[in-house]
Amino acid sequence: MKLFLDTASVSEIRRMWDVGILDGVTTNPSLVAKEGRLFEEVLREICALGVPSVSAEVVATETPGMLSEGRRLRALDPAIYVKVPMTPAGLKATKVLASEGTRVNMTLVFSATQALLAAKVGAAYVSPFIGRLDDQSQVGMDLIREIVPIYRNYGFKTEVLVASVRHPIHVLEAAKAGADIATMPFSVMEKLVQHPLTDLGLARFLKDWEKVPKG
Ligand code: E4P
Repeated sequence: MKLFLDTASVSEIRRMWDVGILDGVTTNPSLVAKEGRLFEEVLREICALGVPSVSAEVVATETPGMLSEGRRLRALDPAIYVKVPMTPAGLKATKVLASEGTRVNMTLVFSATQALLAAKVGAAYVSPFIGRLDDQSQVGMDLIREIVPIYRNYGFKTEVLVASVRHPIHVLEAAKAGADIATMPFSVMEKLVQHPLTDLGLARFLKDWEKVPKG
């Protein structure tokens, strides 16, 4: 399963990229707003690191606007995936953009039937938001467990990108469900690495090593 960072912070991305465990980045308008920087400048810096998949969202709500924004974003760098919302206008835009060779990430997906439509119009990624479903007392991961077999049934190439991830158990469950990608905040990716027994074990080994006679 590929691991993506869900952030527009170039410093966070650089840190995980340096560790070598990062496969991609997703951004959204809220994450970009938090940085207080020019959107395209941020995207160029992320792409310059060599990150192979960088999702950038359109903000137009009608198809013509989505198409012009999507084409502009796509032209910035070959690593750009254009994020388009799951609406009738978004489905229409996705079909056109996909036919032009642009890879589309269909976002704000909350049902398996929406995911089916995303695949039918040729989206490269579908982004079900599991944390936001959990917030509504609906088990978000159940949606992933529905989408994965549906895509397998029909051999859809669309990759399932688990979004709105809030903690490491979401990542674990996404992997068990056979999702292709999980995108998560920096704090969650950090927690995937850490374990107190690793730290304790390392400290003990280093202390014992002091007792080993040195030639
Ligand atoms: C990713 O593509 C989404 O924009 C993101 O995961 C949403 O997460 P949130 O529900 O924590 O805002």
